[in-house]
Amino acid sequence: MTALSLAAAPVISLETQADIAQREALLDLAFGRAARLAKTSERLREGRKPAEGLAFAAHGPDGRVVATLRLWHVAAGPSRPALLLGPLAVHPWFRDRGLGGAMMTTAICEASRLGHGAILLVGDAPYYARFGFDAGLTKDLWLPGAFDRSRFLGLELAPGGLKDARGLVSPTGAPVDLPSLGELVAQTGGTGEMRRSA
Ligand SMILES: CC(C)(COP(=O)(O)OP(=O)(O)OC[C@H]1O[C@@H](n2cnc3c(N)ncnc32)[C@H](O)[C@@H]1OP(=O)(O)O)[C@@H](O)C(=O)NCCC(=O)NCCS
Repeated sequence: MTALSLAAAPVISLETQADIAQREALLDLAFGRAARLAKTSERLREGRKPAEGLAFAAHGPDGRVVATLRLWHVAAGPSRPALLLGPLAVHPWFRDRGLGGAMMTTAICEASRLGHGAILLVGDAPYYARFGFDAGLTKDLWLPGAFDRSRFLGLELAPGGLKDARGLVSPTGAPVDLPSLGELVAQTGGTGEMRRSA
């Protein structure tokens, strides 16, 4: 029996604050830090909180984060609420055993249950087509930067969720909380200079 038997299958749940550092490390491993932060999709995520109840983590048998997936509020053209999905990453040790698919299914079902009408993403069409994503649904939409149209995909959760969607996709999520003055002073140690870790 291998160390990763079915009994030790990762468990998917809502992400918590305690997952954030491991999530960042997993994304760096999966995409490379500079490359992932340079993506056009990141322009729709930076400085925003993920959609409420739609940030997921999977934990392995030792409790570490082994998969991550978040959805974000956007407008798909004027007055058209939608969600942006991503990034999706599974730790290399846990790939090809259905965890990415389980993360996708969980996210899509939960977004639908919460009443959202459509999901957009930028990713590999051969992977995402199995969940119903289609480039045809985004043909009149644009992203705020360079993108490959064949990788810009949409999924309708409600009938007509992307019907006649046209224009620029823009971020609409709540802004991240800024640190308080007290937290900033603590970070600088009162010297005005940020502390660096060794
Ligand atoms: C893509 C990723 C999330 C898939 O996770 P996973 O847990 O291995 O996925 P699943 O086990 O649910 O599905 C595996 C299947 O997807 C296929 N697949 C994986 N990545 C694929 C890709 N980029 N394009 C097409 N098919 C892909 C596998 O070949 C396998 O096919 P099979 O079912 O016919 O054998 C994972 O490989 C990963 O984290 N990659 C690095 C980050 C990344 O590329 N994220 C997605 C951005 S496009």
